Amino acid sequence: MSPNPSEGSVFKRILRLPATRAPDDDGCWVYSAGRVLIDLSRAHELSVPGGALRLEGGELPFRVLVMTGADRRVHAFRNHCSHQGRRLDPIEGGRGVCCCSWRHSTYDLVGQVRSGPATGPLTVCPVQRIDGRLVVTLQCRTFVRSAAQALDSQPLRFFV
Ligand code: FES
Repeated sequence: MSPNPSEGSVFKRILRLPATRAPDDDGCWVYSAGRVLIDLSRAHELSVPGGALRLEGGELPFRVLVMTGADRRVHAFRNHCSHQGRRLDPIEGGRGVCCCSWRHSTYDLVGQVRSGPATGPLTVCPVQRIDGRLVVTLQCRTFVRSAAQALDSQPLRFFV
């Protein structure tokens, strides 16, 4: 069941805890060379609009939220609200994405801000479906640009 920010746990939001969990089957995904590969047969969370996976840790260069939208497409975002970097959850039914914080910003399925104090769009990661697998590419233009600014515009080579 997808989280509903308007009915979500006040306790969780005060503590800034996301409703989206790590995958039930942690072996459903692997990360390699700038890409996340997800075996759809093992990722039941993505079978319904509003279902999502929270991927983080290991070799991943940043946290990733993968979700099925109301448009029945799978979307992936850097899991980092542009306000203060809190984690994200799908809006009920997959109509967009919202921040898990008390002041939850909301975004549409292409990462544009819809409400709240967010200062810019989400970083969107391209998703391809290939033979029962999803390939999420972490070559995210927004992330590279903001990271480059943080490092005084030095060239970055995070992803090959
Ligand atoms: S960190 Fe997302 S609204 Fe503040």
